Amino acid sequence: MRPSGEDPAAAAGLSRPLPHPRSGAHHRLHADGAAQPPTASPPAGFRVALPYEFWEHDAVFELADLTVSYAGRPALAGVSMAMHELEITALIGPSGCGKSTLLRSLNRLTELVPGSETSGRIRYRGADAFAPQADPVALRRRVGLVAQRPAPFRGSIFDNVAFGLRLHHRHADLDSAVEFALRRCGLWEEVGGRLRASAASLSLGQQQRLCIARAVAVEPDVLLLDEPCGALDPISTGRIEDLLLGLRDHVTIVIVTHNMQQAARISDVTAVLLAGDRNDGAGPGRLVEYDATERVFTDPADARTAAYVTGRLG
Ligand SMILES: Nc1ncnc2c1ncn2[C@@H]1O[C@H](COP(=O)(O)OP(=O)(O)OP(=O)(O)O)[C@@H](O)[C@H]1O
Ligand SMILES: [Mg+2]
Repeated sequence: MRPSGEDPAAAAGLSRPLPHPRSGAHHRLHADGAAQPPTASPPAGFRVALPYEFWEHDAVFELADLTVSYAGRPALAGVSMAMHELEITALIGPSGCGKSTLLRSLNRLTELVPGSETSGRIRYRGADAFAPQADPVALRRRVGLVAQRPAPFRGSIFDNVAFGLRLHHRHADLDSAVEFALRRCGLWEEVGGRLRASAASLSLGQQQRLCIARAVAVEPDVLLLDEPCGALDPISTGRIEDLLLGLRDHVTIVIVTHNMQQAARISDVTAVLLAGDRNDGAGPGRLVEYDATERVFTDPADARTAAYVTGRLG
């Protein structure tokens, strides 16, 4: 367990420091050891006071006090964290702690659930995702989601990858774009010779990579993956992990996983969610730890995280 030394951001009067987990950005901000006040105000509407420089860094998503309820029952409460550019952020925690809810909030899919309510803030690339002029469809175009079970559409391998390109009227040189996405997802060697074959003829692992290729084809800024290997064998899982590590150079990734080793193997940053204040699963999911993955797994700050990652909780 890490000793809780004095936090420079707390010393600066910032109510809730959220360091960049990997680079320790907030420590850098106070590198000379002095407690410096932020040089600019936090973005309007944020209730969590943060040094503005933090937000300015490479955060793609910034969440402040995010709370989501279904039919009046909170599923997720008070989540403040960020997802950073070209990193893999893993969301882990026991079933029902709100991982999918958090993931699906990022591209505003939760609001499609009748009776759902969202409060707090999500900023995407510095802009309020819930501003009246913010367009959820445009957001979803930039922030793609891949679900747990591979769900290729009916039709050919080619049609699946071309789907989003056609939808967004990006027809120019469809062939090259499809090839590019399949190559990027390591599928070209396997399916390049049978693009007109039905997507259903692929193995489950290939189908999942096809779904990732379909999402990648429209060149998203962020890929959200909800247990993408949940239905796959270890070899297919390994392929997807390699694929995600390769994609990280091009796209920011947020992944929900129940597989602790997977989070440890591929993510840069890990967020641990637990439901209920008494660890009994009752009550909304809350963020209990958010740090560089290595630290979460080797030196967690929260005893509940230690219990969870060693299998004693959840
Ligand atoms: N569409 C919905 N309508 C009503 N309640 C929902 C809905 N989706 C999720 N919930 C509830 O919200 C809470 C969090 O669910 P969520 O699916 O986000 O958890 P999770 O961490 O992804 O769980 P799992 O690991 O089982 O996928 C749960 O109590 C769940 O029952
Ligand atoms: Mg889920």
